[in-house]
Amino acid sequence: MKTLKKLFDSNQAWAARVNREQPDFFEQLSKQQNPEYLWIGCADSRVPANEIINLPPGEVFVHRNIANVVVHTDLNCLSVIQYAVEVLKVKHIIVCGHYGCGGVAASMDDNDHGLIDNWLQHIRDVYRFHAKELDAIEDPIRKKDRLCELNVIEQVGNVCSARPVRMALAAGQDLHVHGWIYRLEDGILRDLDITVTPENQ
Ligand code: CO
Repeated sequence: MKTLKKLFDSNQAWAARVNREQPDFFEQLSKQQNPEYLWIGCADSRVPANEIINLPPGEVFVHRNIANVVVHTDLNCLSVIQYAVEVLKVKHIIVCGHYGCGGVAASMDDNDHGLIDNWLQHIRDVYRFHAKELDAIEDPIRKKDRLCELNVIEQVGNVCSARPVRMALAAGQDLHVHGWIYRLEDGILRDLDITVTPENQ
């Protein structure tokens, strides 16, 4: 007897539906992946990459962690970036944050969150870099929202300084690094207009 039977049933129904709509979908996809996009987003269950941009399996290479942070010593994230840029040759890297991010909010309070506080320190660093602007915002929600945006902007910078990306941009590889933010309340993405390309790096 399978545990979580509901999920296996749901999977069967999904695979059957995809097969009906496109009978060779899984066979074709099993041969190779050729995604144009690397998505670096928050692990939050409400911000699933493929669903938000309405793309099927095979179209997006995905890395998610708490508060979409790109850390220079994070082998996991760096390996994803290297593989995406050097092997898959994705054309776009999208760092996507979201308003109402619990990780960003937790980084702003004085509570003890245990181990995760070490991870959240990266976001506290973002606050420190932009303390003048953030301290001047009185409305706590606006302040949090702005830190969510600034966090994306800083992580785009971190992506661009990661070696594989730096090399690719310097070599003129067709690669764009974007900073986006998603609003849970309406399901809409917004471009923060900070796209980095080989021309403007
Ligand atoms: Co989040």
